[in-house]
Amino acid sequence: MSSGDTRCLVAGNWKMNGLLDEAMSYVNELRENPAPEYVEVAIMPPYTLLHPMNKPLSDKDVRLGAQSMYFEEKGAFTGSIAPMMLRDAGCHYVILGHSERRDIIHESNALILKKLHASWRVGLEPILCIGEHLEEREAGKTNDVLKDQLSILEGIEGNKALTVAYEPVWAIGTGVTASPEQVVETHAFVHEELTRLGLDCRVLYGGSVNPGNARALMGSEGVEGALVGGASLKADSFMQIVEAAANAVS
Ligand code: PGA
Repeated sequence: MSSGDTRCLVAGNWKMNGLLDEAMSYVNELRENPAPEYVEVAIMPPYTLLHPMNKPLSDKDVRLGAQSMYFEEKGAFTGSIAPMMLRDAGCHYVILGHSERRDIIHESNALILKKLHASWRVGLEPILCIGEHLEEREAGKTNDVLKDQLSILEGIEGNKALTVAYEPVWAIGTGVTASPEQVVETHAFVHEELTRLGLDCRVLYGGSVNPGNARALMGSEGVEGALVGGASLKADSFMQIVEAAANAVS
């Protein structure tokens, strides 16, 4: 088993959204003890909000994460953020390989692998995102794409803290979610691939998760939580998703 948390995880990826005032009101709106003990809650705000959100979030039992990082320890890398800086700001998680970084910033599997190692070196738990584009699904290549993205885990020791997030790229920010059958089938494949690699970690679903579909998605076989973008930007809808997760796993 991976040494990471084994509870169901609901993580909010704020992407490039959020100013200090908004973040502080958001934290105030989160209920005390937002989740039962078998659901873990985390928020990944932009870098500028990590330090100020650390204490207020940990007071509410919510974990903090970052949306990316560079792999080097320190030095002349203008504009980059180092793994230890994220630890210093209170992060437990770091999202790696998000499709927006793969597609817009052209992050490669090789770069993501360096970042994985760098996250483990400082004690961060990576959430490795994988997912196919619509053309790839339509061409019947979903499993090949996922297998290739997971291949960077070949040879990784099974005791590393790791969470994987399956996020079909065509479902991200589109309002379209994968069907329950697609979710179950694809998560089964991802788990099978992880087992083949000697890894047994949580697999989250991501892509247009909202309060209306969260319960069904998180009650699906092989789904151990959600990575939520747009619907995590309002405390109220995020808490409804957390509640749906709690109902799905209880
Ligand atoms: P979305 O984003 O919930 O807005 O589709 C999910 C993600 O990109 O992690």
